[in-house]
Amino acid sequence: MIITIANQKGGVGKTTTVVNLATALASIDKKVLVIDMDPQYNSSMSFDAYDPKLSIYRVFSNEVKINNAIQKSQIPNLDVISACENLAAAEYELADDENRNYLLKDYLSNIMNFYEYVFIDTPPTLGLLTISSLVASDEILIPVQCEFFALEGLSKLIKTIDAVKTNLNTSLKLNGIILTMYDRRNSLSSLIEKEAREYFDTNVYKFNVPRNVRLSEAPSHGLPAIIYDLKCSGSQAYIALAKEFLERSIHQIGK
Ligand SMILES: Nc1ncnc2c1ncn2[C@@H]1O[C@H](COP(=O)(O)OP(=O)(O)O)[C@@H](O)[C@H]1O
Ligand SMILES: [Mg+2]
Repeated sequence: MIITIANQKGGVGKTTTVVNLATALASIDKKVLVIDMDPQYNSSMSFDAYDPKLSIYRVFSNEVKINNAIQKSQIPNLDVISACENLAAAEYELADDENRNYLLKDYLSNIMNFYEYVFIDTPPTLGLLTISSLVASDEILIPVQCEFFALEGLSKLIKTIDAVKTNLNTSLKLNGIILTMYDRRNSLSSLIEKEAREYFDTNVYKFNVPRNVRLSEAPSHGLPAIIYDLKCSGSQAYIALAKEFLERSIHQIGK
């Protein structure tokens, strides 16, 4: 099953969510692949797996076969395909390729029998990198930061998802919305939560991710937070979310 984590807002917790959900699932023996589609390569770094020579960009430019771009991480059951800065250029380098929206889907079809879950981290844009991730995916997961204006950008994202469903991938489903950086001491957080739950109802995950400094420290150690500090509130939240993720996911293993 392939899941894209997307939100065209930057800094909302996409990468943190990919890294920690993927790690939580790998730790319960699921075979997991993380593909970093963000030219800022934060999730590659978070797994200490940044390698421009093996980047997904090299796969797009036909220099490396996707099987050879797969790197083992330090975490058992968890592999990574790195991003690199050049990936940003793919947006215009592939502009004339009629098949550009389907390239990632085609590459992934060669390796899906190795994995139960593939998580795709995306850049804060709704360009080719994000669209081709959605085309390749069974489901989309949207992290939303508990900040003012957080919900504003969502209608544009939902429109994009609908357009992808109509034109490019009719089977794309919304896995859910995860509220991130929730601050109990800040009344704005509970306000955003209330609005999000009213509007998106059961599409919002039951568990929120609290604002927790340990989550932001972990990447500088090249480790997912749940390996860096399993006991911190952020790690515990992602473990709870991983359970909820499994309940929500329509199992299409091997697809
Ligand atoms: N729940 C959280 N509490 C505190 N800091 C967080 C939390 N989630 C993410 N961060 C930090 O906020 C910044 C943006 O998060 P990130 O996951 O990189 O977002 P995105 O991928 O959407 O740009 C990063 O520095 C990250 O470490
Ligand atoms: Mg990111």
